[in-house]
Order: sequence, then C-alpha cells, then structure tokens
Amino acid sequence: MPAPTSPLKAVRGTRDLLPPETALWNRVESVARQVFARYGFGEIRTPIFEDTQLFARGVGEETDIVSKEMYTWEDRARAQSEKAQSLTLRPENTAGVVRAYIEHKLGDTGQLQKLFYIGPQFRRERPQRGRYRQFWQIGAEVLGPVTSGSESPIRDAEVLEMLATLLDELGIQNWQLQLNSVGSTEDRKRYNAALREALAPIKHQLCEDNQRRAETNPLRVLDSKEPADQALIDALPKIADYLDHDSRAHFAAVLSALDACGVPYTLNPRLVRGLDYYTRTTFEFTVPSSADPASGLGTQNALLGGGRYDGLSEMLGGPRAPGIGFAIGEDRLILTLQAQAGPQTLEPGTSNLEPQKLDAYIAPMGVERNPPALALARELRHAGLSVEVGDGTFRLKKSFEAADRAAHHIVILGEDELATGVLTVKTFATGEQWKSPEKGIVQVLRADRFARGYREHAMKTELLSDDFLADRREETAREERQDAESDAEQVLRKRPEGS
Ligand code: HAM
Repeated sequence: MPAPTSPLKAVRGTRDLLPPETALWNRVESVARQVFARYGFGEIRTPIFEDTQLFARGVGEETDIVSKEMYTWEDRARAQSEKAQSLTLRPENTAGVVRAYIEHKLGDTGQLQKLFYIGPQFRRERPQRGRYRQFWQIGAEVLGPVTSGSESPIRDAEVLEMLATLLDELGIQNWQLQLNSVGSTEDRKRYNAALREALAPIKHQLCEDNQRRAETNPLRVLDSKEPADQALIDALPKIADYLDHDSRAHFAAVLSALDACGVPYTLNPRLVRGLDYYTRTTFEFTVPSSADPASGLGTQNALLGGGRYDGLSEMLGGPRAPGIGFAIGEDRLILTLQAQAGPQTLEPGTSNLEPQKLDAYIAPMGVERNPPALALARELRHAGLSVEVGDGTFRLKKSFEAADRAAHHIVILGEDELATGVLTVKTFATGEQWKSPEKGIVQVLRADRFARGYREHAMKTELLSDDFLADRREETAREERQDAESDAEQVLRKRPEGS
C-alpha cells in the first residue's frame, strides 16, 4: 500500500477528461446525436458489465479481446438465492445490444431496429497514444428479422454513407473507407482451411505472434502489422476468391449503392477484423497513417470499425436477426480533430474546437456587493445567458483580466450601480463601455449573442446572403444597446439631486 501521503493516480491506461477538452467531447457527441436522429436511430444504454459468457460466445474465445484483454471477475453471491457468476466489463457494445434485442424480444415487432450508443468500453491492452484501457465508443447497430430488410445491402451502404456524413460534419479531413467482405460463415470456414494450408509451409518464417495465430486463428495473421512478414502475408490466398455467389452479389450491391451516393472507398482484402462475429461486409475508416502526425493517432490509425454480423443473434441463443453496425473510437476521433485543426486552435476563440466564451462576467466591487452580484447572475442565467461571477475582493484590474479571458462582456456592480440600478458594461470585442438598466442588459446581451452566431456562420459559409443576415443582426444588437443607453440616461436624469 502506498504511504498515506503519496497522492493516488488514475489507473494505467485510464485518464481524466477535463474542461475545456470535455466541451469538444460534448460537441462531437451532440453532432453524432443529430446525425443519428436524421437517420432514424434511437439510443440504447446497456449495462457496463455483463455475463462473461456473452463476450466469450459473441466476440469469440480465440480473439485477442476475449483471450487476453477482458476485465473479468468472479462475482460473489450475496444471498442464497444468488449464484456466484463470472462478470466482465464490456470490451465492446455490439454483443450487449444483441443480447438486449433478444431479451426484450425486439424482433417480435417485425421492425428493423436502429440503435445507437455512446459510452465507455474496457480492454486490457498495452496503453499508448490513441489506445487506452478505458476508452469511449460512439456506435450504432441496425438489426431485425430478415423480413424487415435487415440483410439487404442497402442497409450496409446506408450505414457507410451515414458515417461519411458524420465524419464530414465533424470536420474530419482525409478519411479513407477501407472495405472488404469476409463472406458467410461457410465461406470463412473454407477460407480458414485454405489459409491454414498456405501458412503451414511458411509458418516458421513468420514472427512468433503470427506463428501462434497461424495455429489458433489464421485470419488474424492478415491483421498483422509486423513489417518483416508483409510480403509473405500479401501472397496468401485472398478471401474474395472464397466467397459464394450470394456473398459476392451482396458485396457488389453494397459497392454499387456506395457509388450511387458518391462515397469513396478502398477495397482492402486483408481487412478481416478482430472479432469473430463478422460476416460479409467489414470496414474501417482510417485517417492518414502513423507516419503522418496530422492523424494525431500514432500507430492507431483506425478511427472506427464495423461490419455485418448475420449469425450473432443465433450464437447468443436468439432468433435469426441479421445486422450491421460500427463503433467509432471517440478518443481517437477527438485526437484526430485536435491534430487536424492545427496550432491555430490554441488561440482562444479562433476555432470551433474551442469552448465558447460566456456572455457576461459580473464584477462586484467590494465583498458587500457579492450577494447582489449573485442575484443579478441568477436573473441573467434565468434569461438564458451564460454568466460567471467574480469576487468583491478582486481589484478592478484583476476583474477585467479574468473577464476578458472568460466572457464577451464585463458587468460592473459598484456602489453607484447598486444605488441607481444602472449598470456599467464593457464589450471586449469593440472596447466600448456603456450603461444600461438591469433589464436592458438581457436584451442587449441576447442580441449580441445572436449577432455573433450569425457572423460566425457567415464566415464559415462565405455566402453573401449569410453576411447580409449577420449585418442585420449586428444592427439589431446596436439598436438594442442604444435603447438601453437612453433608458439608462433617463433613469440617471430622474434621480433626485444629491442621491
Ligand atoms: P473494434 O474495431 O474492436 O470494433 O473497435 C471499434 C473502434 O474502437 C476502433 O476502430 C477504435 O477506434 C476504438 N478502439 C478499440 N480499442 C480501443 C482502445 N483500446 N483505445 C481506444 N480506442 C479503441 C468493435 O468494438 C465492434 N463492436 C464494432 C461494431 C459494431 N461492429 C459491428 N457493430
């Protein structure tokens, strides 16, 4: 046990996400939710731990995930009615979603189920940049009885087109869709046998890891990144030559639907993926590789992966329910966005990756002004404005510095301001100082926020019509301010002499 004074740290491979970075995480999740809604997906939340059998049966005993990477423990029974049970922190979410589909008899609706999830997953991998032991996935699954059209290649193409849209809307540049078909379970059996045969005479020339894979799970050899083995692996039989007629036709139909939508892809015959449940279409979206620092991912260049799993439901004891889905590595997505946005993101306010500044910073002058400052903040916040409150012990200079960092406007609350109800405000963007009665401030700050939103949008779209709208909004904000200032003048003029 560490000495009581030594501070505890986050466990290896886990990390804390802090503001302002969490604002970026929230923005990514909000874009994902909007896109999912447009494609008719609803959210599913499954437990973070499940019966170990779920992953053993679903993901596959021989996979790296199940054989080496799971966090599994024997859960003791607490009552006579309970049995001790082996539980596992979910290493992925597809098996859990299919379990829930079966458990809640979602197939009985006869409808195609379109479900998305956002949440942490756990794998005991060797941590490195872009690879963690607790990481987040944003994923989605489309599944249902065959009569709901769940097997149709249009589902595959739609999922891939949605991913292209999502990555574009998030601003990910230079993504590449790598695509393959691993055929039906029978195709894979035949291919596995062919691979085993082809590997037998050359096995001893491969690295130790690949020698082991050649024995236990020959498909995994295709995944190997070991440089010395690449030429031998490239010369191995190709899965495309082992697909039956139906799998070939299915894959051709996926490709032609993608062509029709204009979604570009690269065929990658070695893309077999690390989970056993895949059938037919498999895919990954990557960003320029390890060698290119712009990906932000080091050697982990797969942003997301997925594919079809037509037999998974049966493997878990459920009815036939073909499906297709994917999971985005959210940690990797964020690293890529940060790397691609470049150094200008370090300048506050210059990038949409930065958190937005608040509308106002209220600076109470003297500790006795703290309570009314908090009351004013309450009023502004109730009116939908974002506000931070300083402290009455701060000198004016310190308040201004803090306000400039945090907000677009500073509202000063001193003796005069409290006596008259007329507040002094400074707008940092223009350097102008102005006065307004309390009520007027809400109007002005709201109008200012709208104007800023329109201007940012206009700058992004570079459309003249958007520029025109932004001009109009700025004019409205100016008018609101002039109204507030003349109200302030009136209030101050009406004050009895000497007060
Ligand atoms: P997966 O390829 O194992 O697939 O994981 C999907 C994505 O999660 C990867 O492409 C990667 O971005 C991210 N990821 C995986 N492991 C880590 C890690 N240790 N640290 C950070 N990110 C990681 C699945 O999980 C399947 N359930 C996807 C799926 C859904 N297939 C069909 N439906």
